[in-house]
Amino acid sequence: MIRARNLKKVFGSIVAVNSINLEIKNGEIYGFLGPNGAGKTTTIRMLTGTLKPTSGEIEILGIPLDKNEIEVKKRIGVVFEEPKLYENLRGTEFIDFIIAIYKLDREKTLAYLSELTEAFNIDYLDGFIGDYSHGMKQKLALVSVLMRRPEVVFLDEPTVGLDARSAKILKMLLEKITSEGRTIFMTTHILEIAEKMCSRIGIINRGELIAEGTLKELRKLSKTGSKSLEDLFLELTGGEEIAEIVEAL
Ligand SMILES: Nc1ncnc2c1ncn2[C@@H]1O[C@H](COP(=O)(O)OP(=O)(O)OP(=O)(O)O)[C@@H](O)[C@H]1O
Ligand SMILES: [Mg+2]
Repeated sequence: MIRARNLKKVFGSIVAVNSINLEIKNGEIYGFLGPNGAGKTTTIRMLTGTLKPTSGEIEILGIPLDKNEIEVKKRIGVVFEEPKLYENLRGTEFIDFIIAIYKLDREKTLAYLSELTEAFNIDYLDGFIGDYSHGMKQKLALVSVLMRRPEVVFLDEPTVGLDARSAKILKMLLEKITSEGRTIFMTTHILEIAEKMCSRIGIINRGELIAEGTLKELRKLSKTGSKSLEDLFLELTGGEEIAEIVEAL
C-alpha cells in the first residue's frame, strides 16, 4: 500500500528525511514515532504528494506517485496536525466543495457523513469554519477525509485536540478501517496509543529511520531490557539522561 525507497528531503542545510525505506501492507496500522523535528510530517507530506522529495521513489497502492498523482490522491486521505481549511466557508459548504472536487456520490457520501458527524458530536457544520475551535476544525478535517472511505489514510497526530470521547471513537474507527483491509499511517507522540493500536512501529530520529518492527521486535533492540515503548523510545532516541536533567533544573 505504501512503499518508499531512499526517500530524502533536504531543506537548505537541514536533512529533514535521510534516505528512508518504508513498506506497509494493507490492513496495517503503522505508527510513525519520533522526537519533535525528526521528520515525520515531512515524510507524510512527501508520501501524500504535498511536498516534492529531494530524491527517492514513492509508490502508493502500487502506483508510482510521480507518474499518477491524481489517481493516488483520489484514493488516499490525509489529515494534518494543523488542518488548513477555508475559514470563510461554512462546514456544509466545505463538505460540498470536497464532494465536488473528488466527484463523490453525493447521496452516499452525505449518508455516511451523517453517521460520522453523529459519532463525533459534530453539530456545528452550519457555522463558519473561522469561528470553530481547534478541535472542531480537526474533527471537520477528519470526517471530510473519512467520508470518502480512502484506501490509505495518513494521520498526523490524529488525537491532538480531540476530546476523550472523540479520541476513543477515532481509535475504534481506525481499527475497524484496518479490519476492512484499508491501511493507516499515523504519527503520534502518545506512546500508549502506538503501543495499543499499531501493528508495526517505525522510529525516526534526525531524519533517520532508526528502528522498525512490531513492539515485540522493537523490545529485542533494547540494550537495557526496556519493556515499555516509552523506555524503549527514550533509549533509542537518546533520552536516558532525563532524570539527571530534571535534577539539575
Ligand atoms: N518547509 C520547510 N522549510 C524548512 N525546513 C523545514 C520545512 N519543513 C520542515 N522543515 C524542517 O525539517 C525538520 C523536520 O520537520 P518535521 O515537521 O518533519 O518534524 P516532525 O517530526 O513532524 O516534528 P513534530 O513532532 O514537532 O511535529 C525540522 O528541522 C524542520 O525545521
Ligand atoms: Mg510534525
